[in-house]
Amino acid sequence: DWRTGNVIDEQVARIREQVGDAKVICGLSGGVDSAVAAALVHAAVGDQLVCVFVDHGLLRQDERRQVEEDYVASTGVRLVTVDARERFLGALAGVSDPEQKRKIIGREFIRVFEQAERDLAAEAAADGEPIRWLVQGTLYPDVVESGGGAGTANIKSHHNVGGLPDDLQFQLIEPLRALFKDEVRAIGRELGLPEVIVGRQPFPGPGLGIRIIGEVTQERLDILRRADAIAREELTAAGLDQEIWQCPVVLLADVRSVGVQGDGRTYGHPIVLRPVSSEDAMTADWTRLPYDVLARISNRITNEVEEVNRVVLDVTSKPPGTIEWE
Ligand code: XMP
Repeated sequence: DWRTGNVIDEQVARIREQVGDAKVICGLSGGVDSAVAAALVHAAVGDQLVCVFVDHGLLRQDERRQVEEDYVASTGVRLVTVDARERFLGALAGVSDPEQKRKIIGREFIRVFEQAERDLAAEAAADGEPIRWLVQGTLYPDVVESGGGAGTANIKSHHNVGGLPDDLQFQLIEPLRALFKDEVRAIGRELGLPEVIVGRQPFPGPGLGIRIIGEVTQERLDILRRADAIAREELTAAGLDQEIWQCPVVLLADVRSVGVQGDGRTYGHPIVLRPVSSEDAMTADWTRLPYDVLARISNRITNEVEEVNRVVLDVTSKPPGTIEWE
């Protein structure tokens, strides 16, 4: 496509000029945006780029492996993984307020990066260049919704825009800032990224942390991760990935309801399925999933995830509902 080709050429030239001989650090989240942003920067400055993947413990099943193996194999980028699972759990302990969770996750994220930067600094200094740039996969809708666009209200502080602390010591490169998701995917394909990455549904930076309504704990994360994996598996098996923009799976951790299973009464948690169709996440409609697919997801989750005894479907458009529950 000549347009995506142009965007790539323009961005590569611009990034090269901006960065010069300096080193660049990029956080990979496992999602399309950071993967494409990093691939663009890698195309521009090669091994001046180091990617850092933070396992904050709020990832979905199998995501870490996909980044460490599949993405690295296809791009050749240098990757450092930081295991910060305990740190994030500690920082989130006792916190249920959505905005507070987002701010904590954003803050811890940047602190982990700063630590990674210090760890990489000795090596960069040996090459005579410090790490001065931070790549972010910010898209146009993120900019608008975080109040970056003229005349817009701050609806949620997005992890990769509003959640950053003021003393940020990097300069930002945001090569996707003017783009929508479909354009980012087209660029990723043009850059030769594998479909498993490029075709991936959006997943928020704060991860499963904002899909547990209530306090985030290890046990709750395990419950949600298992339910989410089942939903994704069944949606993919039914061939619905193209039709759905994304399907958040949400754990109502502070809610319990009575159920019955086998001979016994249960008192478990509900899981919410939130399948949405959208062009750009600014507005969305709930996806009319086939009943048999919903039935399979519901049966499997309630059978395979012991702590869950009820599966409910969110039938709200955006607006008035946002896509995520927090
Ligand atoms: P909402 O819930 O605002 O979500 O309708 C719109 C889109 O943004 C994603 N989202 C985020 N992405 N950092 C991100 O990178 C975040 O903090 C964040 N919060 C929401 C959400 O999954 C949806 O695609």
